[in-house]
Amino acid sequence: MSNIKAVHSNKKNYTLLLISVLSVFFFFVSYSIAPYCIAEDKSSVKGNLFPIHTQSSQVITEEMIDIIVKACDQSLPKKIENQLFSFKTGGYYVEKGIFVPTRIKDPNILTAFNKVLKPGIRFLDLGSGDGRVVFLASLFGAASTGIEFDEDIFNSGLKARDKLSNRFDLSKTELIRGDFFEADFSGYDVIYYFMSGSFEEKRLEEKLAKELKQEAILVGYIEHEAFKELLSVGRIGKRITVYKKR
Ligand SMILES: C[S@@+](CC[C@H](N)C(=O)[O-])C[C@H]1O[C@@H](n2cnc3c(N)ncnc32)[C@H](O)[C@@H]1O
Repeated sequence: MSNIKAVHSNKKNYTLLLISVLSVFFFFVSYSIAPYCIAEDKSSVKGNLFPIHTQSSQVITEEMIDIIVKACDQSLPKKIENQLFSFKTGGYYVEKGIFVPTRIKDPNILTAFNKVLKPGIRFLDLGSGDGRVVFLASLFGAASTGIEFDEDIFNSGLKARDKLSNRFDLSKTELIRGDFFEADFSGYDVIYYFMSGSFEEKRLEEKLAKELKQEAILVGYIEHEAFKELLSVGRIGKRITVYKKR
């Protein structure tokens, strides 16, 4: 009788061991093939992030970000710059929306980009303004595209890229002048959108819900969980919501 019990409990132990080994194995396999690692982290990102060790071999220093910001700021026409920083307007109103550039030194942005960008990722900035986010994404190794409708702002992006191209490898960046509603979003892995930048946000939300690839993500800046047609899958820092297709 006691022998039978021992055989049973040995079997049970082996089964438990097998389940544990398989769970660990599947966890590591799924983790290593997952294109993005998004942690649920609602706290604000504090402290000095620099130098940033990216998922590519590139190390990003604070000075590099300052160079991008300076080149972009200096490329903007004076009329835009004046309104941009006026308390009254809070931004520069253009035909398709409001131009306010992302503060690319924001630790929330830097942390988010370091989690979701790496070589092989195709990145798109919807309404890319003066291109600073596109340039930033390329430092993280992504093939980086921006689409901007406003001609003056778009041209300032080209000017900034010229200034920056002797300092950085921007060969994988593309600035397109046009309406992002005419683009096909399905070719991108990570799409960035500065929330409220477009006057047609509902239409944009519907297009994203239709065209995002199943495994692609949308990184929304500042406003949280505004897109109900998409699935909010987490936050990075205090200012970023990450969405996927439902
Ligand atoms: C808030 S700004 C963000 C600029 C840039 N993404 C950044 O974060 O620095 C929004 C930009 O989207 C552009 N925009 C809005 N609707 C657009 C559309 N349908 N097609 C292309 N650009 C658009 C505006 O012209 C404006 O420059």
